[in-house]
Amino acid sequence: MFDSQLHEMVLSGDGSYTAYSKEYGEHYHSTKDGALYESLIKHVEPAFKIKKDSKELNILDICFGLGFNTLATIYYHKKNSFTSKLNIFSPELDGALVKFLANFNYPKEFDELRHIIIELVNNGVYSDENLHIELFLGDAREYIKKFPKAKFDIVYQDAFSPSANPSLWTKEYFSDIKNIIKEDGVVTTYSIALPTRLALYENGFSVYINSGDGFRDATVASLSPLNGFTGVDMEHKIKCNPDAVSLRD
Ligand SMILES: C[S@@+](CC[C@H](N)C(=O)[O-])C[C@H]1O[C@@H](n2cnc3c(N)ncnc32)[C@H](O)[C@@H]1O
Repeated sequence: MFDSQLHEMVLSGDGSYTAYSKEYGEHYHSTKDGALYESLIKHVEPAFKIKKDSKELNILDICFGLGFNTLATIYYHKKNSFTSKLNIFSPELDGALVKFLANFNYPKEFDELRHIIIELVNNGVYSDENLHIELFLGDAREYIKKFPKAKFDIVYQDAFSPSANPSLWTKEYFSDIKNIIKEDGVVTTYSIALPTRLALYENGFSVYINSGDGFRDATVASLSPLNGFTGVDMEHKIKCNPDAVSLRD
């Protein structure tokens, strides 16, 4: 049984289950877009559109939650026969949630990945020839400080909303992300809020729109110019919204 005092399973728009957090008052995914579809379209696909030819990829999955972004990455990588070695690092504050994941009703696309979830729930680590995953139970703000400069190729920025979980959207938080992402690394996020984009921009990231059919616009960002995405004219946005500010610690 997955449901608890703080979490309950909810069917989402693409037929996959997500969860509702009674603590944060939010769903783990857009119930309209669907949990699996959102993970693929807002994080995995745009990241691999840029990084599919890399030999080895270091991915920071903020935050693990139900594990969809990590699992969808492995699923998508296998489905497309990509050969890169994947190293995925993911913090998660809610240890009680992680304990329940063995009982979560995952989509059939993740059937072959069940042993990975079980290993992560039991040991916090999974390793095979081409895949290494570390799940850290604790605060993401502390966790990201432990990595060396320019470690990551991809950062999935998938915390609860800026209003529900502001500490993972501030200018100072993205300054720490800037420190550990490679110059040509990519940040993906569902948030299109101007304060989020400002926090990225003020740290030197170029900001782009991730748009397509059947899902709401999202954001990708990089310290280097990105091909294949439409840029957001941040100077224009700032001029039109003079009162907008990034969140601060
Ligand atoms: C929107 S959910 C993540 C969904 C997840 N990416 C998935 O695909 O299932 C946000 C998660 O952030 C976690 N969280 C909130 N604050 C955190 C923090 N300071 N450090 C680590 N995890 C945190 C919450 O417990 C929650 O599981």
